[in-house]
Formats: sequence, structure tokens, C-alpha cells
Amino acid sequence: MRKLVAGNWKMNGLMADGVARARDLAARAKAKPLACEIVLCPPATLLVPVAQAIAGSGLGLGGQDCHTAAAGPHTGDIGAPMLKDAGCSYVILGHSERRQDHKESDAIVRAKAVAAVAAGLCAIVCVGETAAERASGRTEATVVRELQNSLPPKLSAAALVVAYEPVWAIGSGRTPTAQDVGSVHARIRETLRDLAADAAAVRILYGGSVKPANARDLAAVANVDGFLVGGASLNGDEFWSIAAACG
Ligand code: 13P
Repeated sequence: MRKLVAGNWKMNGLMADGVARARDLAARAKAKPLACEIVLCPPATLLVPVAQAIAGSGLGLGGQDCHTAAAGPHTGDIGAPMLKDAGCSYVILGHSERRQDHKESDAIVRAKAVAAVAAGLCAIVCVGETAAERASGRTEATVVRELQNSLPPKLSAAALVVAYEPVWAIGSGRTPTAQDVGSVHARIRETLRDLAADAAAVRILYGGSVKPANARDLAAVANVDGFLVGGASLNGDEFWSIAAACG
């Protein structure tokens, strides 16, 4: 399976630096394409200029969220068809920052995934336990529950990517051990058998403090099919080195 490395820029980047980063990555991809698929997820204001900057490079584009409705009276929101129209093929959904900051429930994430797929996007659905859930031994139960309640029925691998992002690992510099990541990813794969049309082909990304220093070890873990990278995706050298660790 071709690994996927997605850079989640979160709420970072003005026109000049965002476009410069995208151009730099596009130049690297053209000069020496990597084996893995690479997707940039800039803030909404940069989607179109980044799409222009990466045109013809083989790099892909993704949004960071979409509304459950395609269009309508939802001030400040973005419909999935608008992301598609801006050049996206992916959208991140149910990131823990949205689950926390915007009180997004599993049901909302599922409705957003339905909207995304209807617009022709591939949904990158995020799941992951908090520090408290981990401390009380509920890591896998949390992840399984989020998958069961956040995924629409029987999506195919072309429409679904799962990202396992332990909430406590995001931006903290801490990661689970490779063994722990392997156990959770195996559990996700097993759970997908009941939830996805072709569970074996669904890419399961790890996210949370992925850096050049740990990328190679994490990429070698069974069922780790790529990464969702936050902070390190804002640095061209670091992001490229992480992608290169995925082949
Ligand atoms: P960091 O890589 O900064 O820990 O962020 C991970 C993340 O939230 C990606 O979606």
C-alpha cells in the first residue's frame, strides 16, 4: 500500500510564507519524487494559492474541516464542494482540536464525513485518546468507540483514511512507543473490518509529535501507513525528511 504523509498546517501561515513553503515542497517533489503520497492541508485562506503553487508537482491538497451541509446559511463555515472546487482531494475531519474547541461529537464528524465523500473528497478521520483515558487503560476502547460512531457505513479505502492521534502526543514532543502504536493500529485495522468496505486497504496514519528523529521507527511499525504531521509540517526540511522516511 502506498503510504500517505499529510501536513496539517493548522491555523498557521500568511500568504507569503505559506506559498513559499508550498513552492519549496513542489520543487523538491519535481526534482526527486518520493514513493509516498504527500498532501498539504493549509488554512482555508491559502488553499487556492497553495493549489497553484503545487500544480503539476504530484503533491495533493486537503482542507482541515468542512460543514455537514454542502452550502447554506452557515457563517464562517466551508462546504465540502467548496474544498473540492479549490483543488482539494482530502479533508481532515474530527481532529481533536475541533472535537475540543468546537465541541464536535462523533455524530457530527460522521455527518461531515458523509458530506465530504458526497463531494468527492477522501475523509481523513481522526481518533485518539486523552491522557486521562490512557492513564485509566481506556486507549483502545476510546479509539474503537470513536471509529464506530464517527465513520459512515462501509466507506472504501478511496474515500477513507483513519488518523490515530493520541491527544496527549499532539504538540507535546511525546509519542507512544512503537509497540503501543502498533497495538492501537492493529486494533483499528481489526475494527475497520466491520466498518469499511475494504478494511485491509484503508490507510491508517499516526499523528502526534512526528519528527525526523522518530519518523523512520514509527513508519516501520505494522499498520502504520503514513503520518499526519502538525508542527514539523511547517518546516520544509523536517516535513520532507519525515516523508522520505515513508519511502
Ligand atoms: P504535532 O505534529 O504538532 O504534534 O501535531 C499533530 C497533529 O495534530 C496533526 O494533525
